Amino acid sequence: MTRRIGLLTSGGDCQSLNATMRGFAKALYRDDPKATIYGFKNGYWGLMYNEYFEMKPSDFSGLLARGGTILGTSRQSFKTISEPDSYGNDKVELMKGTMKRLNLDALVMLGGNGSIKTANLLAENGANVIALPKTIDNDIYGTDMTFGFHSALEVATHAIDCVHTTAASHSRVFIVEIMGHKVGWLALYAGMAGGADVILLPEIPYSLDAVCKSIERRRAEDNTFAIIAVAEGAKSIEEDKMSKKDYKKMVEKRQDPSVAYGLARAIEKEISAEVRVTVPGHMQRGGSPSPYDRVIASRAGAAGAQAVIDGDFGKLIAFRGGKIVRIPLDDTAGKLKEVSIDDPMIVEARAMGISFGDR
Ligand code: F6P
Repeated sequence: MTRRIGLLTSGGDCQSLNATMRGFAKALYRDDPKATIYGFKNGYWGLMYNEYFEMKPSDFSGLLARGGTILGTSRQSFKTISEPDSYGNDKVELMKGTMKRLNLDALVMLGGNGSIKTANLLAENGANVIALPKTIDNDIYGTDMTFGFHSALEVATHAIDCVHTTAASHSRVFIVEIMGHKVGWLALYAGMAGGADVILLPEIPYSLDAVCKSIERRRAEDNTFAIIAVAEGAKSIEEDKMSKKDYKKMVEKRQDPSVAYGLARAIEKEISAEVRVTVPGHMQRGGSPSPYDRVIASRAGAAGAQAVIDGDFGKLIAFRGGKIVRIPLDDTAGKLKEVSIDDPMIVEARAMGISFGDR
């Protein structure tokens, strides 16, 4: 059989996209040495506008440790996918048209939540699609793990480690802001791994008073410094009570680039403390994939190839209890995997005296 497969990476990049594509290609070529893989440039955009190239097996060499994506990526928000493009074209029809012209047997898409919604829409419109779970946020519903998360965790933890020594020297409070979009997985894990004293997550709205009390409690125990790991999507109790619309307006109006700065000012107003902010930002998505990520990326890629070989389309390749399963795109699209407030890790962190700013 000589299959014709489209491959694309969509949404924010991460360290292990290339490693995943390598795993996919190796497994596919082993079963189907004459398979043709078309790499679409810059995500769904390339699929819409015929921007692709025919990939050779050698294109997949040397990718295991290489961060970024050799295909390029872009954000095509799901909201805008159902709107016509600037020429009045229907975007789903454009994508299906490209797949038809190239006579593709399947499209393999490496992406996060928004990209999975688009994959599901394509599947609902008759396209053969397989999605592979990519994101540093680890927020894809239905999979225990996503590739990208562990590599970002290493960077975020390293940032907290570095801040630790300087915070101690200067007896300062440091806020390290961790990516994660609307969920707190990365902040929770990096906070735990980096020994943060306070971890603030979107799932547990914080009170400024409780955050300040935690800092003062530490001081009373003769600790001169404190580290706060704050998720970029963290909210105070007051902010959490706002309607979605009002919260969005407030964020748009905010003068600060992100949450950590306002929090730093608020803490300095409440207690006598010198507060500094560190935002590792996109560094968390950069560099080489961690060994763990290389493993799960390779596994996801190989499992994606097997799904193509089996002709089992409309599925997300997911990790569950160490095993790989295929779950219908429709069961995951549009759902978010949040940190549960009684997650065992939260319970254990509280037992160690880590504050989540809520009590
Ligand atoms: O989804 C990955 C992520 O890095 C989020 O953690 C973050 O909120 C967002 O992407 C940043 O997006 P961009 O690269 O478009 O600034």
